[in-house]
Amino acid sequence: MAGRVDALYFFLIGISVFFSLLIAGLIVFYAVKYRRRGANDIGANIHGSVILEIGWSVIPLLITMVIFVWGASVFFAMARPPDEALNIYAVGKQWMWKFQHLDGQREINELHVPVGRAVKMIMTSEDVIHDFFVPAFRVKADVLPGRYTTVWFEPTKPGRYHLFCAEYCGTKHSGMVGEVVVMEPSEYQTWLSGGVPEGSLASTGAKLFADLACNTCHRPDSQGRGPVLEGLYGKTVTMQNGENVLFDEAYIRESILNPTAKVAAGFQPIMPTFQGLVSEEQLLQLIEYVKSLKAQAEVPTARPVTPGPAAGENTPVKK
Ligand code: CUA
Repeated sequence: MAGRVDALYFFLIGISVFFSLLIAGLIVFYAVKYRRRGANDIGANIHGSVILEIGWSVIPLLITMVIFVWGASVFFAMARPPDEALNIYAVGKQWMWKFQHLDGQREINELHVPVGRAVKMIMTSEDVIHDFFVPAFRVKADVLPGRYTTVWFEPTKPGRYHLFCAEYCGTKHSGMVGEVVVMEPSEYQTWLSGGVPEGSLASTGAKLFADLACNTCHRPDSQGRGPVLEGLYGKTVTMQNGENVLFDEAYIRESILNPTAKVAAGFQPIMPTFQGLVSEEQLLQLIEYVKSLKAQAEVPTARPVTPGPAAGENTPVKK
């Protein structure tokens, strides 16, 4: 993305420099040309010019529309990570960056990524607002407590790149720095296989899901008191009040911490809150487990089976 961001940036600089020099130059030129030469000089009586006024309205409009369309296209490209992007979670904390890979690797203030692969960062904060900033990638986004923000980038050159916190977050804000280590794919594979203390994020989440007894209500067979979670990720779910909500990371997180906020249609608001019981990192594990239930559920539905009569009733998925 760096090339596209820079091209737009230099275009803006070019436009600014061109008009600054033009205006400053004309001010000096006319000041000299039309200076008062004698005590009897009287200025010409001019009552405006329609052509001139249309000109200085239309030309800036065209220039700003070019900037708008160009800027919007870069913005959309930056806001839409490709589907095949590698997902990595980040948790900001006074004063460090914690990274969590899907395979289970955790890192602090260092982020290892492969070259030539799109990487999507899903970020949140444990305390105050931080800001994930990798200048070399032209990537910058606020990291907020209580919600997930995302950025994506595709490293094109192996190397080590500065990572900064770009939001004043307290005493050691300036020390909240790190490095993004971009590796050749083979090196990255070696790095990945070197020491995974726990299992993958989803498998740790599965264990936590059982430890917290989530599985007593959220059962795969639609006999539980909570919605069946299999296959829900990425779908739109209808709530009790008729509202449609996207079943994404933010919704899963909210439903764990504040279960009565948005209750799926056909269910009672009986789930207890897990606020204070699960950390931000454990939330990521649970989310990744719920996301992984998608793949398992897609296998049976791919076969031509007739769904049972109860399935449609208890599965709050909007068709
Ligand atoms: Cu975190 Cu500044």
